[in-house]
Amino acid sequence: MRRPLTALAHTAVQAVLNPGGRAIDATMGNGHDTCFLASRVAPDGRVIAFDVQTHAMAKTHERLGAAGLDALVNLQLRGHEQMTTAVPHDWPGTVDVVMFNLGYLPGGDRTIVTQAETTLTALNQALQMLRPGGLLSLLLYRDHGGAETESTAVENWVSTLAGRYVIERHESPGPCLFLISAS
Ligand SMILES: C[S@@+](CC[C@H](N)C(=O)[O-])C[C@H]1O[C@@H](n2cnc3c(N)ncnc32)[C@H](O)[C@@H]1O
Repeated sequence: MRRPLTALAHTAVQAVLNPGGRAIDATMGNGHDTCFLASRVAPDGRVIAFDVQTHAMAKTHERLGAAGLDALVNLQLRGHEQMTTAVPHDWPGTVDVVMFNLGYLPGGDRTIVTQAETTLTALNQALQMLRPGGLLSLLLYRDHGGAETESTAVENWVSTLAGRYVIERHESPGPCLFLISAS
């Protein structure tokens, strides 16, 4: 049976994110990825997570608290396109992993979705965050309203990275996953 792309993304993250590490969750949503990242960097690493919805932040805060990981995570109620201004000044060039899981909040308001323009701004900032050997994990959905504009823009953006980054592309009938490694 085919492995879900979310599991594949987590396996790739595990290879580069260790205790004491630094990670960014660009789309916290219900907090699954934020919690996973925090569990990897524990006991003394740091995670910064972004979302534009208070509901996402509340769910993530609750999940982190239940796992005893909330002290490791800084939750930012603002768009990932503000990543550069939100992270500490010494983070650019040192981050092990940035994760994006685009689209809408499952179980939430489906009219609030990631948008091509802000996503591309955030993706460019994410590349600046990565240390050499760091990983950008990008899960791209193509089946919600407006998704086509975003997915086309993201696919074009990924194609501009060829030769400068190591890029793996994993397909599924639904989303596709890009694993982009900084050399
Ligand atoms: C598919 S969900 C993320 C799922 C999440 N990674 C998890 O593990 O549960 C996408 C999230 O992106 C958020 N989002 C939309 N626009 C955003 C933006 N500009 N910056 C950050 N998050 C945004 C949505 O509110 C939604 O919660």
